[in-house]
Amino acid sequence: MEQEIKKLQEKLAQQQKLASLGLLSAGIAHEIQNPLNFVINFSKTSSHLVDDIEDILQDLSDKIDQEDCKELQDIATDLKENMTKIQEHGQRAISIIQGILLLSRGKEGEKLPTDIPSLLHEYIWLAYHAMRALDKKFNVSIHETYPDNMPKVMIVPQDLSRSILNLANNAFYAVNERAKAENKDFNPEFEIQLKHSEKGISITIRDNGCGMDADVQGKLFHELITTKPIGKGTGLGMRITHDLITRGLNGTITFQSAVNQGTTFQIDIPCEQC
Ligand SMILES: Nc1ncnc2c1ncn2[C@@H]1O[C@H](COP(=O)(O)OP(=O)(O)OP(=O)(O)O)[C@@H](O)[C@H]1O
Ligand SMILES: [Mg+2]
Repeated sequence: MEQEIKKLQEKLAQQQKLASLGLLSAGIAHEIQNPLNFVINFSKTSSHLVDDIEDILQDLSDKIDQEDCKELQDIATDLKENMTKIQEHGQRAISIIQGILLLSRGKEGEKLPTDIPSLLHEYIWLAYHAMRALDKKFNVSIHETYPDNMPKVMIVPQDLSRSILNLANNAFYAVNERAKAENKDFNPEFEIQLKHSEKGISITIRDNGCGMDADVQGKLFHELITTKPIGKGTGLGMRITHDLITRGLNGTITFQSAVNQGTTFQIDIPCEQC
């Protein structure tokens, strides 16, 4: 009986911690949305200003040196491309934030016709480049297998993209850890496979990284657990991913892992073709 009470108390404390984390993340998401809107809007205004510069350059083209004029035009084109990137990535941050807000209010995001192979490809490479930016030595062979001519399906895209980002971040971190610990013969590998049927989609994500021991495996989806150094991991990634897939997307996520061999996640999501 006493043990039972202790267990329940621990569970309650854990749930309270998660509830306050939910409120906290909703608060942060809300506060970030405003400055992010400024970033996007100022970038749009700056793009228009570069358009004006291009017009002026056009008018001056017979008055200034041809080479200088060409150089200025190239710089203006680069500036506009950079502004577009700022807007695109800013918009993506906004949709992530809206996803957090919806999740913490217990609402479902909007289902949209989604090109799943493109989404998977985009987010895996986003995780790869983020990892490379942090560690120039990081390397991994990425194998992607997608069905040909797959039709779009109705799904909440930001729920899937956030999950894939979390899973890919973990997998890349795990292969990098193993690479650092082992000799040069180790080849870091990451594999993603997508299948689809009338019932929905199924995604397999496999890495040959450091793997998880039984303790981490037991807690992965239900408790806040991290083996990363302070400041590098919060232990929230898999908890959120589990929520996004089971509650947001109505699907299932399971995994198998072995220390110093690797980890495989299996995700199945019911969805309709467009
Ligand atoms: N593919 C994987 N290979 C090996 N270990 C993994 C893998 N995925 C998760 N883990 C282990 O599970 C722990 C929890 O993962 P989770 O994504 O929840 O948190 P985190 O990555 O530590 O921090 P963050 O909140 O930044 O994601 C990790 O610290 C790691 O020990
Ligand atoms: Mg993580």
